[in-house]
Amino acid sequence: MEYIVINGGKRLEGEVYVSGAKNAAVAIIPAAIAANGVCVIENLPYIEDVEGLTKAMTQIGAVCTLRDDHTLEIDSRNITNCCADYESVRKIRASYYLLGVLLGRFGQAEVPMPGGCNFGVRPIDQHIKGLTAMGATINIEHGMIKARADRLVGTNIFLDVVSVGATINIMLAAIYAEGVTVIENAAKEPHVVDTANFLNILGARVKGAGTDVIRITGVQELHGGTYTIIPDQIESGTYMIAAAVTGGDVTIRNIIPKHMESVISKLSEMKCQVSTGSDYVRVQGGGDLRSVNVKTMPYPGYPTDLQPQMTALLCKTKGTGILTETVWENRFQYINELKRLGANIKVDGRTAVVSGDSNLTGAQVNATDLRAGAALVIAALAAKGETTIGNVRYIDRGYERIEQKLGSLGADIRRVHREA
Ligand code: EPU
Repeated sequence: MEYIVINGGKRLEGEVYVSGAKNAAVAIIPAAIAANGVCVIENLPYIEDVEGLTKAMTQIGAVCTLRDDHTLEIDSRNITNCCADYESVRKIRASYYLLGVLLGRFGQAEVPMPGGCNFGVRPIDQHIKGLTAMGATINIEHGMIKARADRLVGTNIFLDVVSVGATINIMLAAIYAEGVTVIENAAKEPHVVDTANFLNILGARVKGAGTDVIRITGVQELHGGTYTIIPDQIESGTYMIAAAVTGGDVTIRNIIPKHMESVISKLSEMKCQVSTGSDYVRVQGGGDLRSVNVKTMPYPGYPTDLQPQMTALLCKTKGTGILTETVWENRFQYINELKRLGANIKVDGRTAVVSGDSNLTGAQVNATDLRAGAALVIAALAAKGETTIGNVRYIDRGYERIEQKLGSLGADIRRVHREA
């Protein structure tokens, strides 16, 4: 078993480089199946979810070559199999993208029900609604989603909820559909735009990504191409919050500052010094920080994937902060673990009331999901004494070399192997 051990109380200082975006990578890798050619994907994050998805791609006949410069080459010319294997994708939420892309290119797909982080019901009814509206027949049998279509035909699809996954999945299925598919009430997250940009480089005709109406005009064939994944918005925000909680001075590089506006705005409201350049943000967290209220929202609102990290920061600010989670119904499970470190938080439904000035002290805790793990890392950086974090595999799903990156900023952090 692996653990992350942190001796808290060290001020973070220096520069850190952000990796490619996880949630763009896990869409763009399966999107490469749409191309009858070779795709080269650059700025790939080396994380567990990418590794798992690459294995699933290989199993269906894509030839994947991972280079040691954060580049993945995918040759989808000889896909042999439209059925993704349960073992390779069961832990990955984004495995559902295989459904849309295989269905779109080959008229059939069989994909296990998605796994990934568990924070409440994670329905896929909007994916199914969209694909069905385009002419697919979908059945769920023995834990597999089975989709078939003699032909997909473009239509207007209004999403009942703003869903990143449904937006991208419908977009993938629509590439080869006859006519025009219009997704209304579409998600606007940076990784939706990145996936559309990738598809367009390959010859797709996707317009409007980044707004709430996306139009996809079907084409005959996609060719290969080279594409660079955008920097990870959530990793960037995690290091920004880590800088703030330690009263540090950190420049986070290789980012798109525009993607960070909601976080910059909250940190500034807390009286953190934040400045930006073309591809960096600098966070200086000295002095007393004020508590703020935060409500998670689809992009460009404050991201749910930075909600747990913000809770950890609010434990160390002056006053009381109220966090409202509007995206996921049960994303406060990690709070019991934060309480082991001394956090004073009351949860009522989708709201958490966080008392600042908590006296955080090191303890043994367990990550309950990916971003919960990041929140524990942040709290541990601010806690007195030693914290040992278990279930590190969750953190590895989305953060590349987190202990090395934080260590280079002066954190006392190490990964240890112990017998279970
Ligand atoms: N929803 C439905 N029906 C659907 C799909 C979604 O009701 O068919 C609801 C969900 O229950 C949720 C809301 O819509 O309440 C948003 O879900 P969405 O589909 O946008 O989430 P997702 O695509 O499954 C992605 C990220 C998550 C991130 C959410 C929200 C990936 C692989 N995952 O999930 O990232 O929390 O969008 O921004 O892109 C993470 O990185 O830690 C992570 C969990």
